[in-house]
Amino acid sequence: MNHIPNSIQARDIESLVHPQTNLALHRDVGPVVMDRGEGIAVYDDAGNRFIDAAAGLWCASLGYASERLAKVAYEQMRRMGYYHLYRHTTHENGVELAERLLSIAPVPMSKVLFQCSGSEANDTAIKLVWYYHAAIGKPQKRKIIGRKMGYHGSTSASISASGKPDMHADFGLPFPEFRHTEFPHWYRQRQPGESEEQFATRMADALEQLILAEGPDTCAAFIAEPVMGAGGAIIPPRTYWEKMQAVVRKYDMLFIADEVICGFYRTGNVWGCQTFGLQPDMISSAKALSAGMQPISALMINERVYQAMLVESRKLGNFAHGFTYAGHPVTTAVALETLKIYEEMDMLGHVADVGAHLQAKISEFRDHPLVGDVRGVGMIAALEMVQDKATGAAFDPALKVGARAEKAARKHGLIARFIGDRIAFSPPLIVTRDDIDDIAGRLGRALDDVAAELRTG
Ligand SMILES: Cc1ncc(COP(=O)(O)O)c(C=O)c1O
Repeated sequence: MNHIPNSIQARDIESLVHPQTNLALHRDVGPVVMDRGEGIAVYDDAGNRFIDAAAGLWCASLGYASERLAKVAYEQMRRMGYYHLYRHTTHENGVELAERLLSIAPVPMSKVLFQCSGSEANDTAIKLVWYYHAAIGKPQKRKIIGRKMGYHGSTSASISASGKPDMHADFGLPFPEFRHTEFPHWYRQRQPGESEEQFATRMADALEQLILAEGPDTCAAFIAEPVMGAGGAIIPPRTYWEKMQAVVRKYDMLFIADEVICGFYRTGNVWGCQTFGLQPDMISSAKALSAGMQPISALMINERVYQAMLVESRKLGNFAHGFTYAGHPVTTAVALETLKIYEEMDMLGHVADVGAHLQAKISEFRDHPLVGDVRGVGMIAALEMVQDKATGAAFDPALKVGARAEKAARKHGLIARFIGDRIAFSPPLIVTRDDIDDIAGRLGRALDDVAAELRTG
C-alpha cells in the first residue's frame, strides 16, 4: 500500500519498529494512527471511534483521559520532576505508595521495590529468588518454573519464565534454568470425561513430576498469573490453585504471583490472589496501578525474602540492583491518586455490579454458532471460536478466523484482544452496564459477519 508522503503512516514506516508486529507486513499495511481518547473509547486520525474493550493492553482502567491525573502529574513536575531512590535517598510519594500497597496486600508483605514495567518487576522477582537461595545457603536452587502459555514480560529473564515459544524463537531463549509446566486450559487440554477437579489434579501431578525429574534441590521458584491473560484469559479450573500451591510448598520453592493484569480489581477483588486463595512470597503489579497513565510497577516481597536480602546486603555491602526511573516521583504520585480514585468510586462495589453484567452478557454468546467456550471472572471475559460446537474442534488455522473477527470487530467500532481463535475482554474498569450492552451488540454483529463470511467461503 502506498502511503501519502510525509503522512504519519509513511513517517512511521521509515522511523519506528513496533513491538508484537509483523515488521515486513507493516511496511505494506502501515499503522493505524490513534489520535485521542475519551472515556472508554479511542479515536483514530480519521475520527473513527472505537470502544476499547481491551483497555489498551489490560491497563487503561480509568479510560483514556483524566484531568485529575494530569493535574497531579503537572503539579509534581513543577515541584520535583525527577528524583531517585538510590543510596539512602527517598521522597514522600515513594514512601506513601509503598505503605499504601503494603496496607492492601492480599497476604502479609514486608517491603516494596519499584520498577517501570511488569517485565522489570518479574525480572527483579527472579533475581531475588536467586539472591534468596544464595542467602540461605542453597545456591544450587536456581530453576524457575513457569507455565506453558504463561506470560511475564519481554526482558530476557521474564520471557524465559514465560511459556511462549513464539517469543523465544531465534532469541536463543529461554535461558537454561527455566522450565514450563502444563497449560491449565481445561476446555482445550482436558481428556475425555475429565472433570475440572480431575484436570486440576493432573496439572498438579505434572508440576510435581517436573520438579522430581529436575531434582527438588535445584528448583527455586514457581511463577504464575492468577488468571492467564496473554494465554487467552484462562480461568483456573476448580481446585487448581490449592493443588498447585501444595506442590510448590512441599518442595520449599518460592511462589511469585504475577498480578500485572489481575491486580487492582480486574478479577473482582483488589487482587487475583484474593479471588483464588493464593499465598505468594512475592507479588508483581503494574498496569492498573497507575491506570496505565504512567509507567510504574511494584514488586512486593514478604519478610522471609527481605530477611535474606538483609543477610546478602551485610555480606556484600550493598543491594546491587536498581533502575534510574524506579519509584519516580511523578509515576508514584499518579499511582497514589489512581488508588484514591478507586476508593472514592467504590471500585469494589462497581466491579461486583458491572462484572456480573459482563459475565451475563458474554454468556449469551454460548448460543452463537461460532462459539464453543465462554468463560470469565470479574472484569475479564473470553470466548473461544470453534469449528464444531459439539466436539469443540478448532478451526483450520488457515481460515484465520481470529483475524477475520478482529477485522469485523474494528468495522463495528470495537477493540478486543484476539489471541488465535480466542477473544478476550478486559474493558476499562469504569465501564457501565450500558457500555457492556454496547460492547455485546458490536461483538454480536462482528461474529455474525464472520459466520456469514465462512458460510459463503
Ligand atoms: C501477566 C503479565 N505479566 C507481565 C507483563 C509484562 O508487563 P510490561 O509489558 O509492562 O513489561 C504482562 C504484559 O502484558 C502481563 O500480562
